[in-house]
Amino acid sequence: MTNRVFNFGAGPAMLPEPVMQRAQDEFLDYRGIGASVIEISHRSREFMDIIEAADALLRELAAIPDNYRILHVHGGAQMQFSAIPMNLIARNPARKAVYAVSGNFANLAAKEAMRYGEIDTSCNSAESNFDHIPEFDARTVDTESSYVHITSNNTIYGTRWHAFPDTGEIPLVADMTSELLSRELNIGKFGVIFASLQKNLGPSGLALVIVREDLLGYALPETPGLLNYRTCADKQSLANTINTFAVYMMKLVLEWLRDEGGVKVIERRNAEKAAILYDVVDGSDFYLGTANAPDRSHMNVTFNLAENNLLEAFLREAEANGLYALKGHRSVGGARASIYNAMPVEGCRALADFMRQFERSHA
Ligand SMILES: Cc1ncc(COP(=O)(O)O)c(C=O)c1O
Repeated sequence: MTNRVFNFGAGPAMLPEPVMQRAQDEFLDYRGIGASVIEISHRSREFMDIIEAADALLRELAAIPDNYRILHVHGGAQMQFSAIPMNLIARNPARKAVYAVSGNFANLAAKEAMRYGEIDTSCNSAESNFDHIPEFDARTVDTESSYVHITSNNTIYGTRWHAFPDTGEIPLVADMTSELLSRELNIGKFGVIFASLQKNLGPSGLALVIVREDLLGYALPETPGLLNYRTCADKQSLANTINTFAVYMMKLVLEWLRDEGGVKVIERRNAEKAAILYDVVDGSDFYLGTANAPDRSHMNVTFNLAENNLLEAFLREAEANGLYALKGHRSVGGARASIYNAMPVEGCRALADFMRQFERSHA
C-alpha cells in the first residue's frame, strides 16, 4: 500500500487496513448494483442486509444476550450524554443518578445530566487530575437512584476500570467509547452500554447503544424523537436516514474482528501491545507514566518525558519515523499512544524501539 503510518491518534483513529481496502474496492459499485453503498436507500434490501449482518455479528462478538437491543443513534457519544438522562432519569420519580467522574468525558456527561435531575458526583478523581479510577462504594449509592454512570476507559488520562462496580438492582450505564470490543465483557452486568464508533468500530458521527429491554419506555416527554430509545428500538434505528456509510464500515470492522479470532484473541493482543509500551516507560527514568499503574488503560498509553522541553523533539522525530499523532491531550500534556484494536503489535514495537533510541540519543 501507499505511505501508511502507524497512527496513534485518539480518534478518529486508524482502522484495519484490510477494511479500508475492501471499502475502496467496492466503493463505486457495491456488489454489482452499479451504485455506491452511500448512494442507495437506507431502506433498500442491500442496506438492510448490511445493518442486520452488523447487528448479528456484534451480538455474536460481544456476547449480547437476547434481552438487549442494539441501537444506532446519531451524534456520537456526547449526544448520549443527553440521551441517557432523558431516557433513564425518570425510572424513579426522585430523578436521581450517580456519576463516577473519572475524567473529562465523565465530567461532561455528569454536567449534561444535571439539566434533568439530581446528580451525585462524589465518586471523583478530579483532585489528582484524573490520574486514577476513583474508589466506588456501592453502599453510598442512594437507593432512589435511577442509574449509575461510569466511563469505562478514560481516553484522555489513560485509565480504565479493570473491574466494574456492582450496583445491584440499579442499572449500570457505561460509556465504552474508547474500548468497546477490546475486552471481553459480561454484558448482563450493564443496563446500557454506549460508544461512538471512531475508536474501535468505524468512522465518527454515530453511536452504538446496547440497552436492556426493560429500560425502554421511561423517556421524559420532552425527549426528541430521534433520541428516544423506545422509538429507535421500534423503528430498528431507521426512524430517519441513518449514516449508512458508518454502519457499512462498522460491519467491515466487525468482520475483520471475527476473522482475527474475536474479542478474546484481540484482548490478549491488546494486553501484549500495552505491556510493550508500559515496559519502556517503567524501565526508564527518562519517561514518566501519568496514570496510576493498577488503573492503566490498554487502549491509551499516556506518558511524559522527565525533561518536558524534549517533548516537541520527541513528537517531531517520532512523526519523521512514521509514528503519527502521539501528542497528549492538552489537559494532561506529554504523549499519548492510542493503540485500539486496529493497531498491530508491530506498531507498538516500532514505538518502543523509537522511545529507547530517543532516550539513548537525548539522555
Ligand atoms: C470516553 C469518551 N466518551 C465520549 C467521547 C465523545 O465522543 P463523540 O465526539 O463521538 O461525541 C469520547 C471522544 O473521544 C470519549 O473518548
